[in-house]
Amino acid sequence: MERKIKLHDKSFRLFIPNDEIESAIDKVAARMNADFSGKEQPPILVCVLNGSILYTAELMKRLDFDAELLSIRLSSYEGTNSTGFVREVMGLSRSIEGKEVIILEDIVDTGATIETLVSMLMEKGAASVKVSTLLLKKDVYKRDIPIDYAAIEIPTRFIVGFGLDYNELGRNLKDIYVLDE
Ligand code: IMP
Ligand code: MG
Repeated sequence: MERKIKLHDKSFRLFIPNDEIESAIDKVAARMNADFSGKEQPPILVCVLNGSILYTAELMKRLDFDAELLSIRLSSYEGTNSTGFVREVMGLSRSIEGKEVIILEDIVDTGATIETLVSMLMEKGAASVKVSTLLLKKDVYKRDIPIDYAAIEIPTRFIVGFGLDYNELGRNLKDIYVLDE
């Protein structure tokens, strides 16, 4: 495992090794299994592309209840900063009317994305919307929407790896790295 890496013009150092990520996902999956097992109607997992691909894959393998999968693509980030303006780049391919929905996010930072997404999904007729995120920047996030299942809480730093990118690079890293400042 590399301790330091470079992506584009920036240096990053190892922050969360893969085994810690996986055990945090184990714990979230166990909580979801307890909450969703035995429900009559399978919930819909909404993978927020592209960042949540690895989180969605690792989490889904650990779920022991039936669930459908849909993906959506939003955009708010440019470089290492949120623009605060969230737009839908690719919509859902199927109706979620009357369904219980669990959003799977890579990271909740300012919460602009998650807030927009939750209201979008409620408008599309979801019966309920729960939020799960691999990472939560807990000192930045100040919104009212509850983050029901956060796997890992992190300080206010820019990170890459395990699905997260810096200008589209770094998604394939199996550990998480933090920007060296
Ligand atoms: P928010 O809307 O400010 O909560 O930002 C959420 C989105 O910005 C996430 O889904 C990520 O795609 C991206 N993002 C936020 N923080 C980071 C980071 O530290 N590294 C990489 N992407 C991030
Ligand atoms: Mg994202």
